[in-house]
Amino acid sequence: MTRVLVTGGAGFIGSHIADALLARGDEVIVADDLSSGHRENVPAGARFVEADLAEPETLTDAIAGCDGVIHCAARASVTTSIDDPVHSNRANLQASTRLLLAARDAGVRRLVYSSTSAVYGDEVEGEAHEALRERPVSPYGMNKLAAEHLFRMAPALYGVDTVCLRYFNVYGPRQDPSSPYSGVISLFVTAALEGRPPTIYGDGGQSRDFTFVGDVVRANLAALDAPVGGGAAVNIGGGRPTDLLALWAAICRACGVDNLQPDHGPARPGDIRHSRAAVARVAELLGWRAEVPLDAGLEATVAWYRAHPLAAP
Ligand SMILES: NC(=O)c1ccc[n+]([C@@H]2O[C@H](COP(=O)([O-])OP(=O)(O)OC[C@H]3O[C@@H](n4cnc5c(N)ncnc54)[C@H](O)[C@@H]3O)[C@@H](O)[C@H]2O)c1
Repeated sequence: MTRVLVTGGAGFIGSHIADALLARGDEVIVADDLSSGHRENVPAGARFVEADLAEPETLTDAIAGCDGVIHCAARASVTTSIDDPVHSNRANLQASTRLLLAARDAGVRRLVYSSTSAVYGDEVEGEAHEALRERPVSPYGMNKLAAEHLFRMAPALYGVDTVCLRYFNVYGPRQDPSSPYSGVISLFVTAALEGRPPTIYGDGGQSRDFTFVGDVVRANLAALDAPVGGGAAVNIGGGRPTDLLALWAAICRACGVDNLQPDHGPARPGDIRHSRAAVARVAELLGWRAEVPLDAGLEATVAWYRAHPLAAP
């Protein structure tokens, strides 16, 4: 793989992927509309194209000559998708559709899609296994699942090989704390560093399979190069969930502050109770498993927020 387009590369996850591709010697093009991303996240070695993927033909120049695409661009929020499902549809499904056609026209060999555990919905008992019937409970989850279906069909219909990665709550340096859903760790860390209690929606017993961004980057590189594509969807998570009260306690330890009693707000619609990845399929298909334990990931995250106090909302 030599020339790779990273959509959403001015955002949290995409910018880390762009860093890693450059570090291994690939040529990197970042396409982003800066709707939630930041220009300063784009690594200096990458070419930056400001483009809205949902607009026709914005990518013709950026994607030319690319043999790989890593598709991270999205409006990545359950809550805002409920408030504005039309915009979610545009940014998450329409944009993915246009990107796929641009990839077909450019002769792209492999496209890796950033999907989400939100495709499973809230009725999963125990592990979320890829063979389960998906039942998303938000427009965001529904749009991401629809895009997955499109990318599953892409090898046969459009000649673009694909892999879909279903991330379970990703966290790490550079995550924007103004994102109300996926950024729970960024919100808690900034609260702890400022000596404020966080707001927990519901009783705090809800659990998430928190996944460090470095592990997610490795999964993307593995998916870009793997012999198996074919539209496969695999979970990207460690299979070890943590509830929000335990998470807050771990963050207070990592920040070296007292464990303040959190404020509690009403549970949010579309918020699922428990989320845990089944991990066998991704190990088999991509040879990947999560490696960074929560305490080590929190330590790296806290260090970054200490060094970037202006990242706080
Ligand atoms: N962060 C998580 O916990 C998590 C969990 C599951 C899935 N995901 C998925 O991972 C991907 C990256 O998420 P993130 O946390 O880095 O979010 P992010 O908001 O930091 O990054 C998304 C980027 O996409 C850009 N973008 C949005 N709409 C665009 C458009 N129409 N055209 C061009 N660029 C556009 C934004 O400006 C931003 O830079 C998303 O696809 C998201 O759905 C994230």
